[in-house]
Amino acid sequence: MTQPTENITPDWLRELNERVGLKTTEKRDIENSRDLRFLVEAFYLEVLKDELLAPFFFNKLYIFQRLPILTAYWEKMLWGTGWYRRNPMQIHLELGRQVPFKPAHFERWLEHFNGAVDAYFVGEQADKIKFAADRVAGNMQARMCELSVMPD
Ligand code: HEM
Repeated sequence: MTQPTENITPDWLRELNERVGLKTTEKRDIENSRDLRFLVEAFYLEVLKDELLAPFFFNKLYIFQRLPILTAYWEKMLWGTGWYRRNPMQIHLELGRQVPFKPAHFERWLEHFNGAVDAYFVGEQADKIKFAADRVAGNMQARMCELSVMPD
């Protein structure tokens, strides 16, 4: 992704989407990995603007380079397909050693995630992905507390 992050705006995203033939004004269900890619872009655009989450996302371009990985992760979560075989829990545990996670971070993360889903999608898969995000965030939060990575 060579687009400078300051130019990544919802308008730019909509434009990109129109170019690939998606009508973002009409809400519909998540159907394929292209929809997932769109969702993760919309989600991280909001996350990157959020000051509470900023300490985790200090390298904005890096996150945009990770969009294919994040898309593959959600493909695996929703449909059990795709190439994602990594261990996100481990990655977040390591991250937590540099920047301590707190419950408020997870709450905010979920707000943005649910917000991005609801902004563009509606239906069974949309519900399923929000449910999955909520479950994983809950597990992650519990695990971070358990291992004392996250101070009270
Ligand atoms: C407070 C909440 C969260 C924060 C601040 C956060 C932050 C981050 C950051 C900074 C990365 C990049 C790390 C790296 O590649 O070294 C990352 C990667 C990732 N995050 Fe999170 N995350 C949060 C919650 C979640 C949740 C709840 C999920 C899943 C439902 C999730 C899924 C992922 C995945 C799949 C990756 C890519 C891992 C890989 O490279 O394989 N994150 N996250």
